[in-house]
Amino acid sequence: NLQNSTQETETIEENSPVYVGREEDIKKSQRMTAVVHDKEVVIFYHKGEYHAMDIRCYHSGGPLHLGEIEDIDGKACIVCPWHKYKITLSTGEGLYQSINPKDPSAVPKWCSKGIKQRIHTVTVKNGHIYVTLSKPSDFKCDSDFYATGQFKVIQRPS
Ligand code: FES
Repeated sequence: NLQNSTQETETIEENSPVYVGREEDIKKSQRMTAVVHDKEVVIFYHKGEYHAMDIRCYHSGGPLHLGEIEDIDGKACIVCPWHKYKITLSTGEGLYQSINPKDPSAVPKWCSKGIKQRIHTVTVKNGHIYVTLSKPSDFKCDSDFYATGQFKVIQRPS
């Protein structure tokens, strides 16, 4: 029926790759922002690899495109400029340091809180970069809250 076919069309559209920019530009700037199917994402080019994620930090909606990338325990992480939460570029996991309270001399260890930030797929074809949004059914994560409602789309491409 009509309703089903409309829903199907929307699903297909939301999951289709969207052109976001040129490879030669991101290789210079190392990062870019884009609106993909009305969702604002940041794309990083780091050590020869592309990573895309929702632009607003899962903690309180901080602007991840303004953060620094740091190597934490062998993993490339974006550090949110607001409260310094660390998010792995490749998986969207939130990292935290834990220490054994019974052993104050122990070295703090980096641990994962699990996937907290929604990541998306980046593909490159003929020097053009495309982003395909991940589906909410693939995994749940806290950043979804800041990708909807009043937080949605904090800037439009000019
Ligand atoms: Fe990102 Fe708090 S909003 S660390």
